Amino acid sequence: MAAVVASDLVTPLKRPFPNDGLGDENNNNNNGGATPDEKQAPRAVARRRDADPAAALAAARHEFGEHGGVNMSIEASATFTMAALEGTEAAYCTASGMSAISAVLMQLVGAGGHVVASRCLYGGTHALLSRFLPRVSGVTATFVDADDEAAVRAAVRPGVTRVVYVETVSNPTLAVADVPMLARVAHEAGAKLVVDNTFTPVVVSPARLGADVVVHSVSKFVSGGADIIAGAICGPASLVNAMMDLQDGALMLLGPTMNAKVAFELSERLPHLPLRMQEHSRRALAFATRMQGLGLRVAYPGLPDHPHHARLGAMGNPGYGFGGMLCVDMGTEDRANRLMHHLQNTTQFGLMAVSLGYYETLMSCSGSSTSSEMPPEDRARAGISPGLVRMSVGYNGTLEQRWAQFERALALMQPPQHHPKAAADRDADTAGNNHRKH
Ligand SMILES: Cc1ncc(COP(=O)(O)O)c(C=O)c1O
Repeated sequence: MAAVVASDLVTPLKRPFPNDGLGDENNNNNNGGATPDEKQAPRAVARRRDADPAAALAAARHEFGEHGGVNMSIEASATFTMAALEGTEAAYCTASGMSAISAVLMQLVGAGGHVVASRCLYGGTHALLSRFLPRVSGVTATFVDADDEAAVRAAVRPGVTRVVYVETVSNPTLAVADVPMLARVAHEAGAKLVVDNTFTPVVVSPARLGADVVVHSVSKFVSGGADIIAGAICGPASLVNAMMDLQDGALMLLGPTMNAKVAFELSERLPHLPLRMQEHSRRALAFATRMQGLGLRVAYPGLPDHPHHARLGAMGNPGYGFGGMLCVDMGTEDRANRLMHHLQNTTQFGLMAVSLGYYETLMSCSGSSTSSEMPPEDRARAGISPGLVRMSVGYNGTLEQRWAQFERALALMQPPQHHPKAAADRDADTAGNNHRKH
């Protein structure tokens, strides 16, 4: 990540070219390169310079960059900031989450190698492992229920399996990986555990739990603005250095490096990431609890009946909750779409969009969007039902205002006898109390 050195913006002009024709270079009166005319009335000259913004800008210091570049330095300090985020020795910022993931996998696995991966992964990662890497490099992947230790052990082939790959909290089903168990299994077979921590930055630190490499789609919570595409690889210095090798490194040779200006922008957002995650988590828990109270089928790791509630509680960093993602299963894609339609267009609860980690609540029907790369049978096996609505819970507006908007939208899904006022706007589905548990 980068940061413009603050002093560059405030310290006075040091002219880089002493003999640039601007004045008497032997002049010691602290006038910089004042002309003879300027020497006679230095204060007036200063006023004149200040009056014209163009002149003031041109008079501001122009200093060479640290390594002699014509522009001032953008300090490559993100390496430290991002590594600090995950508690790893080093980190490298990339142009997208997918570039981070593909670079790590290509570096660690190599031609003909094998990956054991969770059955439930972001659609792009699933496609990378199931289609692209097999086609271009002969890498093969076995997809397993990552919660089933025996299945993971059976799939891992010592000496051939190079990577065990999971998401801390899976997209979109919100299953929580047992990182310490997976690290043990991977290490016993001589493989590395790579964990995608996109859904739970700050909330969980997988490297502290045994993961060898942590990858991020920085485009999501870390950015927080839904306006930047970025990624990160956090891991040991030996890996990051190897990946930067001039002859042999995936980062050097595939060119996924983050734009320095993007890095600078992100460096401004990292300081409030922990605060943002706390509020995402607080709102998501409140909504999940209330939605469940209405009888909706909700998946949220913060709910006591979530199968991995205790696991995330034990793995998580205290004080950051259970993350900002929740899922509501509406049964069918049609009902999911109608609920989202009302939430966006009738009550302004949130926006239909496939991203996450934004201050507005974002909603998508995963089966037909972010997981659409997966064949239907793989989606079914991963537990992605056609009516699953994934929500990234935002934090703007008040909690009660947002909850009232959610309830109003839900009421529009009801049959008329329950909500007569909503009849004009209700959907055509008369199958009964469809938002109830089913
Ligand atoms: C869990 C996860 N990992 C990786 C990615 C890919 O990230 P990017 O869009 O920054 O390439 C996504 C994108 O949605 C994601 O949800």
